This record gives sequence, structure tokens and C-alpha cells, in this order.
Amino acid sequence: MQNPKNVQNAVSVIVSALSVMSAQTGQTGHAPRPRVGVVCGTGLGGLADAMNEPVALPYGQIPGFPQSTVASHEGRFLFGRIGDVEVVLQQGRCHLYEGYAPEDVCMGVRVMAALGVEVLVITNAAGALNPRWDAGDLMLITDHVNFTGRSPLTGPNHDAWGPRFPDMSAPYDAALGRIAMEEAARLGVRLERGVYVGVPGPQMETPAETRMYRQLGADAVGMSTVLEVIAARHMGLRVLGISCLTNKNLPDCMKEAPLEEVIRVANEAGDKLTRLVAAVVERV
Ligand code: HPA
Repeated sequence: MQNPKNVQNAVSVIVSALSVMSAQTGQTGHAPRPRVGVVCGTGLGGLADAMNEPVALPYGQIPGFPQSTVASHEGRFLFGRIGDVEVVLQQGRCHLYEGYAPEDVCMGVRVMAALGVEVLVITNAAGALNPRWDAGDLMLITDHVNFTGRSPLTGPNHDAWGPRFPDMSAPYDAALGRIAMEEAARLGVRLERGVYVGVPGPQMETPAETRMYRQLGADAVGMSTVLEVIAARHMGLRVLGISCLTNKNLPDCMKEAPLEEVIRVANEAGDKLTRLVAAVVERV
């Protein structure tokens, strides 16, 4: 579904909360105008430290904004600058597997777009299906398979947001991807390129499902991102997606990937992901 009234309501609350806060802290008194939005997946929390003059707004202060029930996810927007670029971080997202609807999952992206964001950087933790890769590697998402069976665009189309049948021939922006590859090389960070398949979860994959996703052409599997990217493209945002591969997911040698392990690897790889995203944002 598309929920323009809820999004507009959230945006009004955010804009007035920010102007009150910036007036209180003696800043310009103008609400920040972020140009880049970053959805922080597991492990990207460190990006907050790269921000200048951050202002936090917990989701709890925004009426109708869905709260993540996942312990490893914070729940707030953070407004500030990385270098000279005005940025908003979405720290914590909600997922289909928590029982949320697609419009809840996409609320953060839609709110950021309505605040004026033009570029979306979306990150996640994912299992590596490509056998050449290791846990801890990063992957530039070049394309995706929406295997959730859901879309955030069903129901009446809100024409002011985007077209009824949005194009998905190039969901991930090639120019942003080139910048990411260049910055990764400069920083000495290994960055693979591949296709992400988004699944509903919350159960992890069976060996047969893992084999099938690989045969469908996917290099990594995870439980987020695809719906948010559809909503972002619908609203005309340029998208850069990066997965942190937290575990190997190979059909002939399946191993358990407990949440603690996923979080541990994501946090370990988080440092290079943070440096990469900060470097890319400065060039947007
Ligand atoms: N499968 C699905 N989601 C994930 C995985 C996985 O192996 N690892 C991290 N998120």
C-alpha cells in the first residue's frame, strides 16, 4: 500500500521537532535539509560517529512510525553532516518477519524522500550464496530478486510520488556503484559485486532453498532491502546498496548461522563498511 497521509504526518512532526531542537542548541533555527539518506543495517551503527553536529530523533516521537522489535536495531533518525554533505541516517528498520506490512517496512525511506533526500544508501547483513566469497566480505548490490511475494506499491497509486508501473530496469544506480568501487579500491577494502535476493524470513534457508536462490542468479540472501528499494525507485531516488556478508550459505555444506554470529561478523566488518559509506557520501 501507499500511505501518503501517514508519511506527510510524520514529516510535519519531524520538521517541527528539528526546528525546535536546532533553535534550542543555538544552531541556525532551520531544519536540516538532508540530500542523502542512509539505511543502517546491522553493523553500520558506527556511521553515527562520522557525523558532524548530529541531532537524534527517536521513532517513538514520530506518530505512526513503526518500531523495530529486533534487539540489534536502534530506533531513531540521526540528522547531521558527513563532510559537507547533509545526511539523515535511519538507524534501525522494521521487517516483514516482524509482522509489519510493506508500507511499514518502507515508511523510513518514504519519509526521507519526502524530506528531500535524492540519494539512498541502503545496507544490510546477508548470507553469501556465491561460493567464492567469505564471511566479512562486502558486496555492492548490482540488482535484486524480490522473493518476498509482496510490494509496497499495491493499492491506489499516489501519483505525486511516482508512476503506477515504475521502471525497475536499473534499480541500483550505476554511477554511484562506480564511485563505491573507486572508493573501495582507494581504501583497500574488498568490494564484490552481485545480486541480492530478498526473502520474507524469519527462518533461515534450507539447503534446497539455498540451491534454488543460487540457481535463480543470486549471490547473497537476506530479509530486507528489496521493498525499500522498490519504494525508493518509485519516488525517483538514486540507490546505492551494499551488503555485509555475515555467513556463507552453501547448499552442500550448510552450517548454522546463529544471530550472535551474524551480529559479530557484521560488527567486525562494520568498520570498513562505515569508512566506505562515509567516503562515498562525501562524493555524492
Ligand atoms: N539468510 C538470510 N538472511 C540473512 C542471512 C542468511 O544466511 N545472513 C544474514 N541475514
